[in-house]
Amino acid sequence: MKSINVQGKEFEPYITSKEIHSRLKTMAGLLNHDYKDLDPIFLPVLNGAFIFTADLVRYLDVQPMLQFVRLSTYGDEMKSSKTVQSSFGLNQLKLKGRHVLILEDIIDTGFTSRFLMEYVNRQQPASVRIATLLFKPDAFEGDRAPDYVGFHISNEFVVGYGLDYAQYGRELPGIYRLRSMATK
Ligand code: IMP
Ligand code: MG
Repeated sequence: MKSINVQGKEFEPYITSKEIHSRLKTMAGLLNHDYKDLDPIFLPVLNGAFIFTADLVRYLDVQPMLQFVRLSTYGDEMKSSKTVQSSFGLNQLKLKGRHVLILEDIIDTGFTSRFLMEYVNRQQPASVRIATLLFKPDAFEGDRAPDYVGFHISNEFVVGYGLDYAQYGRELPGIYRLRSMATK
């Protein structure tokens, strides 16, 4: 992998597609075990989780019901705005008594997943957990860490594999991080 430019910013290789797929197989194994016979409903959070979800579900043996939802907090900035600006898909959900798994591309401050978790909990599901491809523990401000984590990463801005910078870079097969001034 080579460094790339996305919308005028330099990004360097961070996690390869091969590493991601190897980790997804392991995560799918955990989910097959934990959700066997539970008829789970997965709630992938658009837009970022679309590629993670598409690849992960194809490694599963369990058949999840899939319902995409959308919440957006970031705008086109590199810092979380911590307010939910828009949402869709939420009011069609019937979650009472169901085993719910929220799928996120990345958990940064944790604000988005906390909002969704509270929403889901009001519908009295049998259980609710969170799976995320990436987790930034140093940025996390919540009190409940995600239940399934692909990779723990440091507090850096990343793109690729569904994650964007100003809506660009989502198609990249691997994950890249913003090149810091110090390493230029
Ligand atoms: P949180 O609410 O602060 O946890 O942020 C969640 C959302 O912010 C994610 O679903 C992403 O869309 C976006 N986000 C957070 N960190 C990054 C990053 O490093 N790159 C791209 N998007 C990010
Ligand atoms: Mg985003």
